[in-house]
Amino acid sequence: MSLNRHIQARFGLASDIGHATEENRTVTNILSRCSHRAFSEQAIPEDLLNTLFATAFSAPSKSDLQQACVIHVKDRTKQRRIAEATPSIRWAADAPVFLVWCGDSRRIRRLAEWRGHAFANDHLDAFMNAAVDAGICMQTFIIAAESYGLGCCPVSEIRNHIQLLSGELELPQHVFPVAGLCVGWPQDTPGISLRLPLTTTVHRDRYDDANLFDAVADYDLRREKVDRTPAAQQRLVEDLGVAENYGWSENRTRQYSRPARADFGGYIRRQGFDLS
Ligand SMILES: Cc1cc2nc3c(=O)[nH]c(=O)nc-3n(C[C@H](O)[C@H](O)[C@H](O)COP(=O)(O)O)c2cc1C
Repeated sequence: MSLNRHIQARFGLASDIGHATEENRTVTNILSRCSHRAFSEQAIPEDLLNTLFATAFSAPSKSDLQQACVIHVKDRTKQRRIAEATPSIRWAADAPVFLVWCGDSRRIRRLAEWRGHAFANDHLDAFMNAAVDAGICMQTFIIAAESYGLGCCPVSEIRNHIQLLSGELELPQHVFPVAGLCVGWPQDTPGISLRLPLTTTVHRDRYDDANLFDAVADYDLRREKVDRTPAAQQRLVEDLGVAENYGWSENRTRQYSRPARADFGGYIRRQGFDLS
């Protein structure tokens, strides 16, 4: 498939983008990727996994501070306890590889003490930088893993029971989970999930969302055409009823109409972060 075809498939839109650009495998792999939630039992060779870790930690890092780490949960019983605490991610209980990517602001604080310097940056930025580094490392791992045909799915729902998770992983002060990541040889074929048009996500010179509602209304229709949400799968039907016009925006705004993980800020503060 040509680069342009991949782009049209990703956005579900006619487009000229990609016509004047040489195709390469990295880009076509990313354009055609999707998250996988079912895996064969086939193991991932140890050397491949270590290669993927080496690639992940080759990602850029804020100020070269390298404030990410990953915990490979090898103990199946522990993996099951973490996944089964949240019914919607029971599928993660048997993923061949189960990782938890963490922001790690502990290392630099310990090193500051070791070198005899004050740590004078104890504010929100310290949390944010570590979280961003962890996210970038996770995504770099995903790109590398998918290039070998592996399937991945990040799992932030493991944070639904943050105290349980943190206890299972024995996370010390200033280390916190950003997301889990399930990895394995895929056994499902989920298909591409359409993305918002670039008119809503790429701004030029200044932020401009004047066209938001029209663009999203069209996007909702495009998504429903390829992946219609049956009434039985709509969210919060008992409270909000079945929507005629149910699309991505109804789905996601229904999701965010109810609080979730409201205890996360408290947890992060208990991990020692000053978020001021
Ligand atoms: C940080 C992050 C957390 C995610 N958490 C979950 C999760 O808890 N459960 C899940 O099923 N998918 C999770 N996903 C996967 C998204 O649902 C998925 O990326 C999105 O629906 C788009 O689909 P695609 O990856 O197939 O393009 C997560 C993705 C990211 C980036």
